[in-house]
This record gives sequence, C-alpha cells and structure tokens, in this order.
Amino acid sequence: MTGTPGRSVVAAIDQGTTSTRCLLFDHDGQMVSLTQREHRQHYPRPGWVEHDAEEIWRVVERIVPEAVRQAGLEPAQVAGLGIANQRETTVVWDPATGRVLAPAITWQDTRADELVAGLVADGHAEEFRRRSGLTPAGYFAGPRLRWLLDHVPGLRERAGQGRALFGTMESWLIWQLTGGPEGGRHVTDVTNASRTMMMDLRTHTWDPVLLDLLEVPPAVLPEIVPTTGPFGACRTVLPGVAIGGAIGDQQAALVGQTCFAPGEAKCTYGTGAFVLLNTGERIVDSHHGLIPTVAYHLRDQQPVYALEGSIAVTGSLVQWFRDALEMIPTAPQIETLARTVEDNGGCYIVPAFSGLYAPRWRADARGIVVGLTSYVRRGHLARAVLEATGWQTWEVVRAMDADSGIPLAALKVDGGMTANHLLMQFVADVLDVPVERPLVSETVSLGAAYAAGLGIGFWADLEGLRRNWHRAARWTPTIDPEHRAREAANWSDAVNRALGWSP
Ligand code: G3P
Repeated sequence: MTGTPGRSVVAAIDQGTTSTRCLLFDHDGQMVSLTQREHRQHYPRPGWVEHDAEEIWRVVERIVPEAVRQAGLEPAQVAGLGIANQRETTVVWDPATGRVLAPAITWQDTRADELVAGLVADGHAEEFRRRSGLTPAGYFAGPRLRWLLDHVPGLRERAGQGRALFGTMESWLIWQLTGGPEGGRHVTDVTNASRTMMMDLRTHTWDPVLLDLLEVPPAVLPEIVPTTGPFGACRTVLPGVAIGGAIGDQQAALVGQTCFAPGEAKCTYGTGAFVLLNTGERIVDSHHGLIPTVAYHLRDQQPVYALEGSIAVTGSLVQWFRDALEMIPTAPQIETLARTVEDNGGCYIVPAFSGLYAPRWRADARGIVVGLTSYVRRGHLARAVLEATGWQTWEVVRAMDADSGIPLAALKVDGGMTANHLLMQFVADVLDVPVERPLVSETVSLGAAYAAGLGIGFWADLEGLRRNWHRAARWTPTIDPEHRAREAANWSDAVNRALGWSP
C-alpha cells in the first residue's frame, strides 16, 4: 500500500450547483464520512441564476472539519484534500479583503448569450473553436467574466490594476484555503480553465487573442496548473493538509468511474447531465456539437482529453415538476407517478429552459410540452419528464458515436437520478447499450479524492484505482427497435419545434 503512515484518508470537497459536500475516502476508495449543506439559489431575473460565493466558502469552513470529526479523526490524519466543483460558475473578488465584488454567475445563467451572439455575428466563432476547442456559448466562464467587467461599476479598472481576481469555484476555494488575503494562491486547474473560452486547449495557457476578443485583462486571471497542482497546503479549515488535486466535477466523475482508457464513457445525472468520453491524448475536434475538453492532467504526465456532451436540464426538470408545478411532493416520487401509466400518452417535454446545449447549442430554444390531449394525466407528464433525460442522452451519445467513429459499448452512470430504475431502463433502451452503476455512487467526490491522492502519492497509479470499481446495477436494452425509432422521431420533431422560440 502506498500512502503516509498515520494518514489514512483523503478528503474531497464537491462544490456543486445546489450543495457542497465533504467526503472522506480510505485507501480502498470506500467512503468513511459525508457532510453536506445546501446554499441559496438566487434568480434575480428570468434566465439569471446566481450564487453567493462567500456563503459557499462559509459552508466549506463548516462541513470539512465536521466530516473529519464524524470519522473520529484529527485533521493531521488527513493525507490530502481534493476539490471538485461546478464548472463555469464565475466569481470575482477583492484580493485585499477576500470579499466578492459581485454575485457569482452560475453556469445555468443566460445573461451572456447576447454578448456571445455578437462575437459570433462579428465572425469570431472559428477563432474560438480553433484555439479553445469550444463553440462559443454563454455557458462558458469567459463571456460571464466579460459581462461582469462591463456591468459591475469600477470592476474593469480594478481588474487592470490587480485589485480584482477572477476564478471558477475551485480557484476561489483554493485561494481562501491557502490563506486568502494573507498570501492565498490564485490558481485554477486546467480542466476548469478549459471551460472558459480563454484557454488554448493545446498549450494549456491563456490565449492572448481570445483574451483580446473578450476584452479580459490578464492581471485578473489565475495561474493554470495541472489537475494535481501544485496548489499548496491549507492554512485554514485543515491547517497543514496538502491540496493534492482540483478538477471540474464532470471530469472528476470520469476519474471516479475509472474511465481511464480511450473509448470509456460516463454520464452523471445531476442538475444537468454530462456525458464524457475519454479520447486519450487526442483532442477530437467535434463536428456534431460536442466539446473537446481536458479530462485530467496528472503532473509530469501527458494530459488526457475527453469529448463532452453537456445537457443543461435533467434533474432540474424534476425539481421544476415538483416545485413549480407541484405535481409530486418529493423528487423520487416521480418514478411512482410515472409507473401509474404504461407510456407517455403521446406527450413530450423539451426542457430548453436555458436554450439547448449539446449537441444543438441553440440559445434561442425555449421549453415546450407537445402532444397534449384530454387523455393526458399527471403520470404521462411524469413519463415525459423522465424520457426527456433519456432522449437528451441519446442525442449526445449519437453525436459521440459519429465524432469518434466508435460506437459506445456501455455507459457508466452516476448521480442522483440513477436511483430511478424506470429512467435507467429507459436510457439503456434508447441508447441500445447496457447502462452500469457502480457501488460507490459518489463518483464526483471519489474522483476529486483520486486526483488529490495521485497528486500526493496516496495512490500509486490509475490501474490500482480500477480495482476499486465494483458494479452495483446493470440495465440492458429490452425495447422493440421499431417502437424506439418511432419515439425517437417524435422526440426529434418536438425538439425542432422548441428551436427559435426565444425572440
Ligand atoms: O458544467 C456544469 C457542471 O459542472 C455542474 O454540475 O453537478 O454541480 O450540477 P453539477
């Protein structure tokens, strides 16, 4: 066994869209404690979704020591700390005080769409694609930073003078953990930087041409480092404990699922759903609406890339069904309701609440429900809600097959929605491949712990980690192919009707 005597666990912070968790893992990848707190979601205008980064930092300060105490350990027994985070969420803060200079603009927020449409209209789309690998979209962090620089009074001046710092959530947390105003390290891991539309995907450096196009002063940007750092050690929360790794949450799930070989893929079902296919050392240039992204970069090794299909709305559609429509008291009850009927009753829901992400990237799409007749009951709508997740996964996996030229053999899944058997069976049916869920379903946190543990030598190599993956559930396709083809055509027709709805 590798590792440091007396230091038996690695801690992982999973800073997600709706909550932050801290999990401790032992050397076998088994979870030994878990703490979690939600933070508030702010919706100041239609399409705007904000977080208070200071609130999130206070949550981290509470839950990390709690997790260590819960495990009956002392901070000195924690070998290292890893961070996984909601990606693209954009924070700006004052390095002198550690106070934020604006609400954090989250990845679901649509306010930068117009700005991006302007860049595309001016003919810059290809430049962004060629350099950052990304098709310009308001989803990425760079356009949000530009929006803040344009709209927060005095921010542009501050930024130019080094009196404002930008970061995604891992960057903000690392800065706070490593000392904040007293020498906090201003760094970002490369997987997060690859989601900004400002990083050269080949060299892993900020691209001056793209910074120019976005009018972002370099002084505001963190240093880009590999997934395994160096990030330094915590000066607070877990004093003296090394931050061994930081990684975007979707890439973390790929690592937690041990998808280390080219061709292996996972889908994480959370607020949205994110399919990532490991493409090895190759950057696959997508022609079907997917995003080449950095999967992970272990220090002193070649970076590994992935092709990603990002779906904005999956779990959040169930939440909307529960909270806005009040159709179910709790999210898991959607399965019970859906099972009261045989099928969707001819009804389809396209949840284009933030436009449509992969593979269509249409900011002008808006959500629709089609096929309503007086026959349709709540149960049919519940089916349509779940099926929307299945069909969106299908669109992304089809694009992946086309881009990579290798049909997917199986899909590893994780995240809250994988507890829904009806949905997982539907995903296997529409994809026509087996769907598999691991025993340790906390793959995002596990991936962050693995990154940190690899960074500090707690785990020796990737192959050893594979032995920690055990299958808990498997769904195999059972649907009649003709029925699937008819339903697929209906879904595609519904999606086409959602396009261009936004003025
Ligand atoms: O790209 C956004 C993604 O990282 C958010 O993930 O699980 O926090 O909703 P999640």
